[in-house]
Amino acid sequence: MIVDHLGRQFKNMRVSLTAACNYACTYCVPNGKRLLRAQNELSATELLKAVVILQKAAGIEKIRITGGEPLVTPKFDDFLLGVMNLGLEDVSLTTNGQLLCKKKDVLIKSGIKRINLSLDTLKPVKFRQISRSGDLKTVQEGIEMCLEAGIKVKINMVPLRSQNADEILAMLDYCLDRGIELRFIELMRMGHLLHGSEFHRDFYAMDSLLEQIAKKYEFTRTDAPYDSTAVRFEIPGRGDFGIIANESEPFCRSCTRLRLSSDGYLYGCLSSSNRQFIGDLLDLPSHLVYPKLQKILVSALHDKKLAFQGETTVMKFIGG
Ligand code: 5AD
Repeated sequence: MIVDHLGRQFKNMRVSLTAACNYACTYCVPNGKRLLRAQNELSATELLKAVVILQKAAGIEKIRITGGEPLVTPKFDDFLLGVMNLGLEDVSLTTNGQLLCKKKDVLIKSGIKRINLSLDTLKPVKFRQISRSGDLKTVQEGIEMCLEAGIKVKINMVPLRSQNADEILAMLDYCLDRGIELRFIELMRMGHLLHGSEFHRDFYAMDSLLEQIAKKYEFTRTDAPYDSTAVRFEIPGRGDFGIIANESEPFCRSCTRLRLSSDGYLYGCLSSSNRQFIGDLLDLPSHLVYPKLQKILVSALHDKKLAFQGETTVMKFIGG
């Protein structure tokens, strides 16, 4: 196993099935530009091969399927059904939810137990302003479908001072009423937010969030697992919520994540554009593939930072 001086090792891998997305969220892409599929994206079969060799070489135990938006690519079905058969400890999915109802059959067939859904507002007009596409009602139908099918749902909300900060309590109630854990994600300096004033205008810190929530609820901080990104809170008798406090309480020192992009590159850190191509290793015999992979993984682990420093490109292709 490859471990660094802080005891960090790769255990969770986020696999981006495609860089394409059916939304164009204001905080992700500037000027409503569309995210398109990358050139030379790997097939479902190739991505599955990559998971298998990384399970062995890096000790990957958990997979999160992400994008772009993973439900827009036809390879979603094959990848999901395949990855569920690899004996992993956990498989989860991050989606914007727009296509969930259309994928109901394959989701149920696969036996996936949980999904994370990105939802920033419960107001239809605001929804279109932030995502620049899609339809709120369709997403809400997708949420209900999952809950009815017994798939656990967590919702990710990025609070933005100028957009949806007035909906923090409304979102929390919506989630608590449905047994959904809401996770607020502090805005991160990714992509076009790295430069310019938008980040500073919209950043909404954990302290401010907790102040808003305290107006209605009493809550206590609870223990989170060692490699959890979220700070967890319990509202006794009502439910839980979390905050991914990337700026206020960085979690880099216990990060166990490895990322695979849809075009076959491994990224060791979301705050680094360093990457290593593994698309050409997938069909090599074991005695060649594992020594090469070992070197790549050492280098990827070395890319991990002590705190998030912002990054110009990675998020939109890698899906967080
Ligand atoms: N800061 C914080 N969260 C972001 N996401 C996308 N871009 C950013 C950003 N700059 C979120 C999405 C999704 C998750 C994968 O990452 O809303 O919920």
